[in-house]
Amino acid sequence: MTVKPLLQVLGGETLSTPPVWLMRQAGRYLPEYRQVRAKQRDFIAFCLDPEAAAEVTLQPIRRYGFDASIVFADILLIPHGLGQKVWFEPGEGPRLEPVTPADLPRLSVERAREALAPVSETLRLVRAALPAHTALIGFAGSPWTVATYMIEGGGSKDRFKARALAWSDPGGFDALMDLIADASIAYLADQVRAGADVVKLFDSWADGLPDPLFDRVVIRPTRRIVDGLRAQGVSAPVIGFPRGAGPQAVRYAQQTGVTALALDHGMDTDWARQVLPDSLPVQGQLDPAVLRAGGAALDGEIDRLLCAWAGRPYVFNLGHGIHLDTPPEHVERLMARVRGA
Ligand code: CP3
Repeated sequence: MTVKPLLQVLGGETLSTPPVWLMRQAGRYLPEYRQVRAKQRDFIAFCLDPEAAAEVTLQPIRRYGFDASIVFADILLIPHGLGQKVWFEPGEGPRLEPVTPADLPRLSVERAREALAPVSETLRLVRAALPAHTALIGFAGSPWTVATYMIEGGGSKDRFKARALAWSDPGGFDALMDLIADASIAYLADQVRAGADVVKLFDSWADGLPDPLFDRVVIRPTRRIVDGLRAQGVSAPVIGFPRGAGPQAVRYAQQTGVTALALDHGMDTDWARQVLPDSLPVQGQLDPAVLRAGGAALDGEIDRLLCAWAGRPYVFNLGHGIHLDTPPEHVERLMARVRGA
């Protein structure tokens, strides 16, 4: 069997040239993505069209030869599958008809599993087309991040409404988190059965939470997902991305059961190296803005990270998603530098 560098590193090996892929590597910075996107009127329908989704998943692999491919989908497919109304306003981002704990009885884990079956089909198509050494990543949003969209009705600056609900109605709120977690377990297990080698949990809004809430809404539901996957016999590595968690990321790494920790660019590199166990696989933390900037600044940051994480199991990546204004040539430059060409 061909070795996949990403799986070697997630298994605890240190490679002299780290595997590399980029968060949100399929997307609008690529002209070939914009071409496919222009023919799709509805973003959710696009995500659930296996042929189109497989095509855009493969585009960045063909162009750059990344070590991993991440299935083209979205974290908001779970609310859609559960039965919530989700749509994308052009130029504005996601919109959802807000839910409260009173809506729980009409949200269904079974319906989500059925509605999201096309994502497994995308994974099968991608798997069949990928080079043997390229790992395939499935993903879901973490329950807290998904819940913030469900409760707020879209993106929000400080997730105030979601935090207030978590404090005022802990029973109802935790039941919503469990529902999202259970739908995610079924969805991720299906993704692994369809060919995903690895799964990633995106907790994009894990910042700004007081300790008791961090434990309740980030750690506990993440642990539930990891345990749920293991209970179903899914042994695939899990990458956790508690964006903006700061020092709380240490507890996250110790207590959630994730295999690897994805770090954002705001995390203090030297501190993280000291407090995280040497054996814990780490991924990140290039600033998407320096990739946008390019040039000597980009080279310098790549070198800093390669040097800082040398000698540890490390996956080269951004600290958050690629920005849509990023010139595709900057990604080429990044690949050449990381691969030492
Ligand atoms: O290569 C890939 O990573 C593509 C798959 C992918 C998408 N979204 C496609 C997408 C992944 C892994 C995501 C994750 C995602 N989606 C997150 C977590 C990661 C992060 O960036 O924090 C979040 C918070 C979302 C929710 C979401 N989806 C938002 C806020 C938006 C609008 C803002 C934006 O970036 O455009 C989306 C839309 C979206 N999801 C696009 C893509 C390529 C752009 C929509 C388009 O093409 O019209």
